[in-house]
Amino acid sequence: MNRVYRLKFILWLVVGLASAVAAARFTQGLGAITNLSDPTPWGLWVGFDVMGGVALASGGFIMTAAVYIFRLERLHGVVRPAVLTAFLGYVAVAVGLLFDLGLPWNIWHMIVFWNPHSPLFEVGWCVMLYLTVLTLELFPVPAQEFSALAKVRRILVKGRLPLVVAGIGLSTLHQSSLGSLFLIMPYRLHPLWYSPILPLLFLISAIGLGMMMVTFESHSTAWLYRRKPETEALAPLGGAARWVLLLYMATRLADLAIRGQLRYLVTPGWHMALFWLEMSVMAIVPAILFSLPRVRRTSGGQWAAAGLGVFGVVMNRIDVGGLAHLSRGNHIYLPAWTEVAISAGVVAGATLAFLFMVERFRVWEQRPADPLADPHKLPEFDRVGMTWLGVPAIAGRMVYSLGFIFAAALGLALLAPQPAASRGVDPQPVHRARGGAILWIDGNLDGFGVAFPHDRIVKRLGGDTSCVQCHHMNLPRDRASGCYECHRDMYLTSDAFQHDWHASPEGGRLACVQCHPSQPRSAAGAKPCTGCHKDLTPAGATIPVKHYRAPGYVQSMHVLCINCHVQLAKQEGKPDFARCVTCHKERRGLTDSGDTTARPDAVRGILLPAMTR
Ligand code: HEC
Ligand code: HEC
Ligand code: HEC
Ligand code: HEC
Ligand code: HEC
Ligand code: HEC
Repeated sequence: MNRVYRLKFILWLVVGLASAVAAARFTQGLGAITNLSDPTPWGLWVGFDVMGGVALASGGFIMTAAVYIFRLERLHGVVRPAVLTAFLGYVAVAVGLLFDLGLPWNIWHMIVFWNPHSPLFEVGWCVMLYLTVLTLELFPVPAQEFSALAKVRRILVKGRLPLVVAGIGLSTLHQSSLGSLFLIMPYRLHPLWYSPILPLLFLISAIGLGMMMVTFESHSTAWLYRRKPETEALAPLGGAARWVLLLYMATRLADLAIRGQLRYLVTPGWHMALFWLEMSVMAIVPAILFSLPRVRRTSGGQWAAAGLGVFGVVMNRIDVGGLAHLSRGNHIYLPAWTEVAISAGVVAGATLAFLFMVERFRVWEQRPADPLADPHKLPEFDRVGMTWLGVPAIAGRMVYSLGFIFAAALGLALLAPQPAASRGVDPQPVHRARGGAILWIDGNLDGFGVAFPHDRIVKRLGGDTSCVQCHHMNLPRDRASGCYECHRDMYLTSDAFQHDWHASPEGGRLACVQCHPSQPRSAAGAKPCTGCHKDLTPAGATIPVKHYRAPGYVQSMHVLCINCHVQLAKQEGKPDFARCVTCHKERRGLTDSGDTTARPDAVRGILLPAMTR
């Protein structure tokens, strides 16, 4: 199996997994599949998909400027792949944005409802316009293959210069406006990253990145398709990138000095470590590598230095987009695996589109040979898919689609909805137990409950003094309140205090100061409950009350009932006493009069359907 085939199979796996996650994103919403929250509304998708994607596309404007304006003919061979990368980069940004927007179907609003004061407005328009320009710049490449499009192609080639100029204008505007986006959050971004010249810093680093990205991509695809690397032509690009990186470092350090923030460079901690790591990877080490002639002139050296730099600039964008934000409170954001899957899926999809384009159209002077065209290169029996493969051209597609479907199925399985009880979303209010000496406890009235010999157990446990063993907390001015009064939901916790009710006119009718004698009002400074409700927790109660969130009804029953029954089972040598059937032995229905009656289908010793829910 060759490299291209293997790479494509892996990419299809990633795309398959991501498409399952995408389905969940659009059916269940952002909350279900991301770790984003109100304190951290921007995460991996903004940092990597959008800001990283735009940065990675910078090769497009650098190369068109170099070749069509400065006439550096030597670089002619890399200009088309660079424009293609820029185009796919921007498509990836647009797709990434659609995942991140809460209401993606409203994206057209910015075309109609203008808000020119918003940096996001500029960003949105730049993406739209530049994507249009890139499409027009790229169009002649596929058009070459269809004679019917020859005319359109000729017009576009003739009108290339204005397009190139527009593209460079839009692209530089956009690279820097992504920096402007963060100017509005001076107190959120750490001072090592926040700067009034953030747009300029973004632009300079994008220029350096563009050069390195073209180099990195050229060598990677040369390796992939076993083509001859364009080391000669790319060497001056490395040399130029070095100067841009040095300029970037100088600007950034000078800016820190002028703003008087140099001390943070030596203040130990997370931000200092992140800054130095970022600067080394994106600028210092690549600049040194590109200065060494031995590195600059070999394909391996170019590839390593450029790859490092590309990684570093993307890291810078992710830092500015989230990692370098000052945390408010103790909220820490880490992307969920589903967020990573979407980001990886977008990259994998763009890479597949790139490979398709270079194989199908003349992006390079020579199209690479179709890896599937040679029947001897593929085994007839595919061990990955465990299938017999037919004609090689179809065989590849079979394996790819198998990979896609397998990964999508895996994703769907991982994202399968949790049972309602463990997700805890459907509230199930509790009803009081019915009966006299024997209480029928059936909180949700589903016929599955427990006949509880209340009075017999009270007698066994010692009569009047026993109440507090179970009735551990009571409503004000009450004794032995029913459990359902506070444990109000079958599975969810409920609030046994009701803060707002206490202060409301129709509730406790209390003024705030009666409980909060001092400012600021807080939990710690509040008057204790026992200050007003002496008997809220009766003396001798063994179930502790530290805060006022009452657990679900079933849990409170099981914790109380089973604990005592387990102990009794040991003490009295009756192991059956702790088994489920001691309590769950019959099923009852409600009659019209509201009384409970035993049903003929009462089951003994078998878990009833409700139990296995
Ligand atoms: C000492 C008594 C006791 C024992 C032993 C006991 N339970 Fe329960 N269980 C209860 C009570 C009381 C309730 C509340 C019944 C209700 O409100 O419908 C309950 C509720 C439940 C419910 C929820 C019923 C519903 O309507 O949704 C399930 C499920 C359940 N128990 C399973 C079990 C299983 C399984 C065991 C054995 C491992 C077990 N219980 C052992 C007392 C007991
Ligand atoms: C073994 C535990 C246990 C003991 C001991 C116990 N109770 Fe109960 N009691 C319960 C449970 C469980 C309920 C049903 C609560 C519900 O409806 O949610 C209940 C219900 C009641 C109710 C009905 C409440 C209502 O609003 O429907 C009263 C009254 C009551 N108990 C009084 C007492 C008194 C008085 C004592 C002491 C002499 C006592 N209980 C001892 C567990 C116990
Ligand atoms: C006035 C309100 C109130 C009433 C009435 C009440 N509880 Fe509670 N219960 C609470 C609160 C609040 C907690 C949580 C205490 C904590 O976690 O600090 C709690 C906790 C419990 C716990 C501990 C659960 C665990 O997971 O550790 C059990 C068991 C329990 N209650 C059983 C009962 C039973 C049985 C009754 C009725 C006989 C009852 N409660 C009546 C408010 C109440
Ligand atoms: C019955 C007593 C009582 C009254 C009346 C009351 N509070 Fe509270 N308050 C508390 C208690 C107890 C807490 C802590 C328990 C909690 O976190 O729910 C608290 C917590 C708070 C907190 C901190 C919430 C947090 O998340 O840390 C604020 C703010 C507050 N109260 C404001 C008010 C205001 C405003 C009023 C008047 C409208 C008021 N309270 C009336 C008892 C009271
Ligand atoms: C400043 C006095 C005061 C404090 C402190 C206070 N309460 Fe109350 N509470 C009241 C008043 C007044 C009422 C309504 C009259 C009554 O039922 O006694 C009330 C009612 C209640 C009720 C009954 C609500 C209902 O739905 O009928 C509960 C339960 C309760 N309080 C719990 C608490 C808890 C838990 C705390 C501690 C976190 C607390 N209270 C602190 C004054 C207070
Ligand atoms: C403090 C200990 C204790 C607690 C708590 C307790 N039980 Fe029991 N339970 C007993 C004792 C003791 C008996 C035996 C009564 C007798 O002598 O018949 C018993 C008997 C029973 C029986 C009759 C069993 C039979 O086969 O005769 C049922 C049903 C039962 N309990 C259910 C419950 C449920 C439901 C709860 C929770 C609401 C609960 N118990 C809480 C001690 C406890």
